[in-house]
Amino acid sequence: TKRIAVLTSGGDAPGMNACIRAIVVASEGAGHTVIGFEHGFHGLLAPNWRKLDSKKVHNIIQRGGTILRSARCEEFKQDSAAKNAAKHLSELAIDAILILGGDGSFRGAKHLSKFWDGQVIGLPATIDNDIYGTDTTIGYYTAIQTAMDSIDKVRDTADAFERIFLVEVMGRHAGFLGAKAAISGAANYAILPELFTDPDETLNDIHQQLSIHRKRYGHESFIIVLTENLWPEGINTLAEKLENLTGGEVRPVILGHVQRGGSPVSQDRILATTLGVEAVRCVEQGKHCIMVGQQNLEPAEVPLEQTWETKKVFSDSLTRTMKTMLNERHSWDLTK
Ligand code: F6P
Repeated sequence: TKRIAVLTSGGDAPGMNACIRAIVVASEGAGHTVIGFEHGFHGLLAPNWRKLDSKKVHNIIQRGGTILRSARCEEFKQDSAAKNAAKHLSELAIDAILILGGDGSFRGAKHLSKFWDGQVIGLPATIDNDIYGTDTTIGYYTAIQTAMDSIDKVRDTADAFERIFLVEVMGRHAGFLGAKAAISGAANYAILPELFTDPDETLNDIHQQLSIHRKRYGHESFIIVLTENLWPEGINTLAEKLENLTGGEVRPVILGHVQRGGSPVSQDRILATTLGVEAVRCVEQGKHCIMVGQQNLEPAEVPLEQTWETKKVFSDSLTRTMKTMLNERHSWDLTK
């Protein structure tokens, strides 16, 4: 039997608890011991840990956040920190560590593996879905749901006042969350890193789309989804520019950390549980320096470095859907 450590790191994502639960239940069933480090990589340095068993993970599958707490740990980039963590893991006789998080966490995991010869396995958990090698990440679907619900609500007031709304979603530097929120919320336009050319072109494009929209529907209500960190001078400047350009009233809405919280939707619970079970299986098989993700609905193992070295891009069908349903409807025949 093995001694397995687990930690959650970086931006928390709904479903992290479901994954911890699966790891503990699967491990316990096979006779392994599980310990959880607290506050991400900080817990490895302190060290700060506790034993986990199925009683401790009872009644957590539906909870957002993470019972192990999370953090970003700048200090872990230093060799001295990774060596210190390796020492603590060896002292605790840990065979494998499972790290739930995004690309920053996986870089930390790889760094640790340079100084520790136990098994290091990553599990993709971030609302951004910006990890190569897995179709989706734990937390992504819940964040889409939250953003979509918000867009539905924004549309009510947008329609009532015939206003233009700019809805800023998270995603860090990736537009996956924005794209899915925009599609499911039937937004009118999306400004996402993957579809962005330059500010002037985007403003002209929106202006053109809005004119078509006004003619076709006879009203102003228009919803634009914007990925954070993308518009050069920020959302408020964009709102002002759009007011000047279109002559309509523009209101900005920043969804922010609301998107990180809430009870995970079924897809996230199921993904988290499946990946937790698979990760324990990978530990038993002696796997090392991999991420356990999901491709075409089946578990997939990917070398850890590849998850951030290869950039995850929009699939052709996602790009087509975005352009067809949102951004490029210039050719509508308005006489019909
Ligand atoms: O990676 C998850 C995420 O929520 C991003 O979407 C966002 O850019 C970032 O984390 C925010 O980080 P913090 O919680 O440290 O402000």
